[in-house]
Amino acid sequence: MNIRQFLDAKVAHALHMAGAPEGSAGMVRPSARANFGDYQANGVMAVAKSQGLNPRELALKVQRLLEAELGDVVEKFEVAGPGFINIFLNPQWVAGQLEQAYGSERAGVSQAQPPQTVVVDLSAPNVAKEMHVGHLRSTVIGDAVSRTLEFLGHKVIRANHIGDWGTQFGMLIAHLEELQKENPAIMEAELGDLEQFYRESKTHYDENPDFAERARGYVVKLQGGDPWCLQMWRKLVDVTMVQNQRTYDRLNVKIRPEDTMGESMYNDMLPAIVADLKTKGLAVEDEGALVVYLDEFKGKDGEPMGVIVQKRDGGFLYTTTDIACAKYRYETLGADRVLYYIDARQAQHLQHAWTIVRKAGYVPDTVPLEHHAFGVMLGKDGKPFKTRSGGTVKLSDLLDEALSRATALIASKSPDMDAAQQAEVANAVAIGAVKYADLSKNRTTDYVFDWDNMLSFEGNTAPYLQYAVTRIRSIFRKAGVEVTGLQGALVINEAEERALATKLVQFNEVVDNLAREGCPHLLCTYLYELAGAFMTFYEACPVNKDGVDVAVRDSRLKLCALVARELELGLGLLGIDTVEQM
Ligand code: ARG
Repeated sequence: MNIRQFLDAKVAHALHMAGAPEGSAGMVRPSARANFGDYQANGVMAVAKSQGLNPRELALKVQRLLEAELGDVVEKFEVAGPGFINIFLNPQWVAGQLEQAYGSERAGVSQAQPPQTVVVDLSAPNVAKEMHVGHLRSTVIGDAVSRTLEFLGHKVIRANHIGDWGTQFGMLIAHLEELQKENPAIMEAELGDLEQFYRESKTHYDENPDFAERARGYVVKLQGGDPWCLQMWRKLVDVTMVQNQRTYDRLNVKIRPEDTMGESMYNDMLPAIVADLKTKGLAVEDEGALVVYLDEFKGKDGEPMGVIVQKRDGGFLYTTTDIACAKYRYETLGADRVLYYIDARQAQHLQHAWTIVRKAGYVPDTVPLEHHAFGVMLGKDGKPFKTRSGGTVKLSDLLDEALSRATALIASKSPDMDAAQQAEVANAVAIGAVKYADLSKNRTTDYVFDWDNMLSFEGNTAPYLQYAVTRIRSIFRKAGVEVTGLQGALVINEAEERALATKLVQFNEVVDNLAREGCPHLLCTYLYELAGAFMTFYEACPVNKDGVDVAVRDSRLKLCALVARELELGLGLLGIDTVEQM
């Protein structure tokens, strides 16, 4: 159950009963400090101001109404400051919530009502190029949000909008043709280093006029559907995606080949779209090109911004494709909501495309198109993350390094573990650490990539949380009981038990927040705080010690079991594995 939402509705209702207009917001938030209660309702002040009422009087009225209605749920309400209402949950009611959560595989998290169809645009690497760290962000954040939406019962369509179309394919095909002459088996083999393949193609194109001529010819033929060119193009796409799939599998992200919906897929739709934009009077001819002028955006000269949808030579653009793509996602995929995990630098591009989409009526306003932008990954020097020689960092190299660092770390921390287990733990830690480092930062800002921080067993890191899970598993091994087999009642007595319990019941609302905002760091922060509350509880409240009453022990074990379940579920939503022992 989402308690924040529940209280929010109750406060809003009480506000209305106390004389506020219908729809006034309760503004219930978790409290920042325990002496302000578990939650705080901040809605009174705004209403009092707009209605010319005395905020404290209104708050007291609301308090009385809430007391009458929420006697079981809330231990006490307190009016504080200019009209805040502090809410202290009743520990017995909290215990009841936790009993329910204990009996539920999903730790009591409610299903979304109504379930939606959500299209998530994620990963989107480019053909004949290596995936780099920018695609890491889109891939892991998009995957975590997709998993969370699925967990809540939504239908998620992962759309991997790969860059598989464009004039660069002329030179790539011409280069592949040359390699094939030298080595006919190349069509069966892998291309190895894609970055190098791309660079060589480009060099030939820039330096060899015959090659460039041929390349330009292939562009035209490819667009005209020439079978040989299409076959060469397919080879390039397939080879790239086979290599990328390996990275997805290694990263433990749920992206499969059938999720690929690249730019080429929209190609056939573009002429009709452009014709339609023209009919609707949105696109106009300008020096041979077709342009949509948007009043919403001003160019340098203060004039409406012109967005080209078709070039003079008849070619279409990245924007044209994104217009068709949004239309397709609504019309054909039936999206109720579309999330785009794309670099912040493409914000304007998306705004242009979507403004046209709305004007043309391709997607109604009731279906949100959301750019879930993210910043760039920085090196320790605060500059964009690069290799020592200044090149882009390949994702596969990054994962190799993570694994070798984690392998050394686990070997030194757990020398007695057998080799197979060490390898399993090292892999979970390596992949977990890289993903968590990304997921735990607010995606909207740039972040510094730092090996030592992310692999640390202390602080807000994957290894810290993975370790907390193993610690709880060992508590159960020691107690000789099954995690799911506890019978006695969960009772909250000590302050540390209460603090932990209050944290535990907030899981649902954190998961909901993640789904709404598409920000996995909200869940990371929660899991980190939960693990902290657990450590404090475990120090203060003995579980497996002599002299601890069996009923008390079992109640505490239930708390431990719930912590483990939320940590595992939470890490699972982030796409991070846990292990038995570390
Ligand atoms: N391929 C693009 C890139 O690497 C990202 C595509 C994002 N998705 C979209 N619908 N435009 O920058």
